Amino acid sequence: MARIAVTDGMANDAVELLKQAGHEVVLGFIEPELLSNGALKDFDAIVVRSATKLPAATIAASGDRLAVIGRAGVGVDNIDIGAAATAGIPVVNAPRASTQSVVELTIGHLLASLRHIPRADRGLRNGKWEKKIMKGTELAGKNLGLIGFGRIAQGVGAIAQALGMTVHTFDPYLPPKVAKAQNTTLHKKVETLFSNCTHISIHCNLNDETHHLVNAERMALMPGRSNDGINCGNHIVNCARGGIIDETALLDALQSGQVASAALDVFEIEPVPSDSSLLQHEHFHGTPHIGAATMEAQARVGRDIAHAIMTVLNGGVCETTVNAHLLK
Ligand code: MLT
Repeated sequence: MARIAVTDGMANDAVELLKQAGHEVVLGFIEPELLSNGALKDFDAIVVRSATKLPAATIAASGDRLAVIGRAGVGVDNIDIGAAATAGIPVVNAPRASTQSVVELTIGHLLASLRHIPRADRGLRNGKWEKKIMKGTELAGKNLGLIGFGRIAQGVGAIAQALGMTVHTFDPYLPPKVAKAQNTTLHKKVETLFSNCTHISIHCNLNDETHHLVNAERMALMPGRSNDGINCGNHIVNCARGGIIDETALLDALQSGQVASAALDVFEIEPVPSDSSLLQHEHFHGTPHIGAATMEAQARVGRDIAHAIMTVLNGGVCETTVNAHLLK
């Protein structure tokens, strides 16, 4: 029987799955100071989402018993996967479970921006019937630039194409034949993606290469006018990771009008401070990192991560081990 810490919550069915297999599941957030003082010494496994951070010092303080780290989701930027590998600990995630949910939220944010849904709602609540100033634009006929072209971006691209958009992508790791098969223009330089697209959606990981990849210079390249001749303005959506957009530059671009709308589900600092000037901007709307927060995604995430953890605890190798290349 293993002791498994689940610090950021997990679907009940997945907790039951682990318990039925005979494991002890300890649910509850563990404060960072406790983690770095060896709170994981009595555990064989830990399952986290994004709230719990597992830097190198915490992993080093966890002793020899910890055998596997599970990330109930996709992004592992909150875990030092190299330090885990050095300690001989596989880090496993659930990369496919939330794809559809994030795709749908991204399309929702795009539509909400273009049709001013959050602004119009705020007006209604304040007793304003602002019909005349809520003229939007269609997605049809516009160029959508996707930064990163993995599963989520491909899902967004397929829906965008069905809505009449032309899809472009920048993804230095993508085999050109994948972009071709999806009828998508693959850019070698991110700059040409920006100069060709009035709409940009982010779907890459946060790392040294992508930190502040969306910056003032690149947003300044966006054309503001679409191929169908409409002055639709420029629009940015991020349902991937905070930190990929330079939020100060984004606010400046909103203030100057170079960016007509921005919709973020993820922020450089989470929870985003409520006095953030970005949150106050009329043409900004956001959600609190809820891309994977659907009943369906959480059920799949929980099930996938429970199976991954048990595979490792039973001595097997999990196919979603994100630090496999670093483990000896
Ligand atoms: C993920 O990486 O899976 C999502 O951002 C959702 C989450 O952090 O839970």
